[in-house]
Amino acid sequence: MTENVELQFDTEIRAASHPDSIKQAKDLLGNGQLVAIPTETVYGLAANAFSAEAVARIFDVKGRPASNPLIVHTFSVEMARDCVSTWTDAANKLAEKFWPGPLSMVLPKSEKIPNIVTAGGQTVAVRCPSHSIMKDILRQCEFPLAAPSANLSNRVSPTKAEYVADQLNGLIPLILDGGACQIGIESTVIDLTGETPAILRLGMIRKEQLQEVLGGAQLALENSGNDKLKSPGQLRCHYSPRAKVIVGEGSWEDLLNKSDKNTHVITFESVPNDRDPATWHEMPKTVQGYAKKIYETLNRCDQANAESILIQPLPLESEWDAVRDRLSRASMN
Ligand code: TXA
Ligand code: MG
Repeated sequence: MTENVELQFDTEIRAASHPDSIKQAKDLLGNGQLVAIPTETVYGLAANAFSAEAVARIFDVKGRPASNPLIVHTFSVEMARDCVSTWTDAANKLAEKFWPGPLSMVLPKSEKIPNIVTAGGQTVAVRCPSHSIMKDILRQCEFPLAAPSANLSNRVSPTKAEYVADQLNGLIPLILDGGACQIGIESTVIDLTGETPAILRLGMIRKEQLQEVLGGAQLALENSGNDKLKSPGQLRCHYSPRAKVIVGEGSWEDLLNKSDKNTHVITFESVPNDRDPATWHEMPKTVQGYAKKIYETLNRCDQANAESILIQPLPLESEWDAVRDRLSRASMN
């Protein structure tokens, strides 16, 4: 739980399909309050991006360092253009191809965006999400929504309403329950402010796809989580469950045989006779299926008070890089 933040709400978890839920969310957001809303990637903790006061609540509730900027979500390209001072040709091409969808683009910020959103920087990340509930709310609001993932700082991003509630119960007035997020890991972040576009965070929209749309231009990859952080959210210890996470190297069979029987195992294999099915998490073999399930699985390990989690190595193909990146961050705690 975040320090210094009082449990001041009787948090309501409401089915997003309820006829009043969109209006209720819109009214709260219009009053400077926070609402957890499903997106196609992960649940977001939303506030009016034009209100410094509302956005300050996000930082308080999450316990997020003021140095880590937020992504601004918009209903349309037009609304995104209102948040930036320069809309480039590359931005246009990428928006045409990937919006609405899991791509965030960093561009010079406009004056309408308060400094707190961008952690004092001159650039802002904008994203047009595709989830119908988030879109409905954005359509009704006359402002864009700043929304980080709806978890406490440095914890696993929630892909279901119940995992938002585990972390934020009592801290916000409303969680809209839209079921499981379709993609399951956060958006790709691309910085378009430098001479060469740079990927700041890997996601399910891959480097090759971005490169193709940008006419084969070489893209830098600054996703490494080292000291010279362009994207402060890329700290290595990000996305961690409470348990100690080990991403297996070497022979998987050996690692498994040597592991404690209480260790939770995340694997492509089905549960052997000598293991407790409650500690065995069999994952889909496609990257889409795996991505959709991985944060939920880590959240379930947390709920079961797992002390350690052993993860089977992922296939080496580049399409697994974004998931690999999240697992390596989860193992840094
Ligand atoms: O899929 C997503 O992107 C989800 C959903 C809710 O949209 N949001 C999300 O937000 O993952 P958050 O705050 O958890 O991660 C935002 C990332 C951080 O790594 C942050 O440092 C980076 O984007 N970022 C935001 N604004 C930036 C900027 N102006 N320059 C560089 N990096 C930025
Ligand atoms: Mg996050």
